Amino acid sequence: MWQIAEERRVEQGAEAGHSGGRSWRTSDAGRSTAGAAGVTRERPGPYDLGRSSAIPVLCSQSEVGGRLGTLAKAGMERWRDRLALVTGASGGIGAAVARALVQQGLKVVGCARTVGNIEELAAECKSAGYPGTLIPYRCDLSNEEDILSMFSAVRSQHSGVDICINNAGLARPDTLLSGSTRGWKEMFNVNVLALSICTREAYQSMRERKVDDGHIININSMCGHLVPPPAEIHFYSATKYAVTALTEGLRQELREAQSHIRATCISPGVVETQFAFKVHDKDPERAAATYEHMKCLKPEDVAEAVIYVLSTPPHVQIGDIQMRPTEQVT
Ligand SMILES: NC(=O)c1ccc[n+]([C@@H]2O[C@H](COP(=O)([O-])OP(=O)(O)OC[C@H]3O[C@@H](n4cnc5c(N)ncnc54)[C@H](OP(=O)(O)O)[C@@H]3O)[C@@H](O)[C@H]2O)c1
Repeated sequence: MWQIAEERRVEQGAEAGHSGGRSWRTSDAGRSTAGAAGVTRERPGPYDLGRSSAIPVLCSQSEVGGRLGTLAKAGMERWRDRLALVTGASGGIGAAVARALVQQGLKVVGCARTVGNIEELAAECKSAGYPGTLIPYRCDLSNEEDILSMFSAVRSQHSGVDICINNAGLARPDTLLSGSTRGWKEMFNVNVLALSICTREAYQSMRERKVDDGHIININSMCGHLVPPPAEIHFYSATKYAVTALTEGLRQELREAQSHIRATCISPGVVETQFAFKVHDKDPERAAATYEHMKCLKPEDVAEAVIYVLSTPPHVQIGDIQMRPTEQVT
């Protein structure tokens, strides 16, 4: 697995956030589509991160419109006008998923701390004429009170949650031998605890309204199935192993409760988002290099997997979708 230098570099990119330390290139990686109607925006340079990022915050409308607009519509009909909660909808995978669901006619509550990004996405969805709506909600998922207030606002204003997409997550570069407890707690609080609280509250919301066909989808990672060599990702990997166990545990509890609510996780490899820039917030060049090793997955690829999972007939429960960039080694 570690024979040649080139392969080693790619190995280190097993999850966004881990690069072989190559420098920023300005070839086609210097441009990306983002924002309304697939408008092409210049990608800012690696030192522009304070302002924005080197990766689009929102997803490409034209890409998702073209691919998801025609795919899986039949199976998605039953979800029209129903309510999906998407955590971490302010960028990356969560924004792509929120947009895709609005395109399929759902009412989507998108939450994150940076609510301005979700408001922008909501305006784009509206001006694009998508049949659903995106409702932005500011929530710090590391704070249980915030999560509970969000669920009670959803209950009072929109009845309740039919689909819960636990997407919010982060990695901090805190190794097991010398990392900070603070970094570990940040990861644990969002990746494991918030996901579990949202799952419990979403289930209770479905149960009290006698919703028996709901769906809980956890955005896991390939790091939830194998421990990649870079030390900085070991604790993160442990949180994603927890997501693997939590998804299967949830499936079993739902069976015991004789519920038809479904539990699924989606486990991507490297996806080109802000993720690596948050991991390596002090080393943007290293972060940018993460996405240069190979043609990475796009947030829209993961959104398509979510739509596929939701569009299967109610008797079909997808347990996990493992998806990597074709060129990814680990
Ligand atoms: N990118 C990858 O290569 C990759 C691969 C496999 C799995 N994943 C998983 O995919 C999910 C999404 O990641 P991404 O790549 O889209 O990363 P991203 O672009 O960094 O987005 C992360 C999202 O999580 C939200 N979030 C983080 N902490 C939060 C908090 N305390 N409260 C509320 N929201 C919070 C962020 O919103 P605010 O900061 O605005 O609050 C943001 O919307 C994560 O679970 C990640 O582990 C990513």
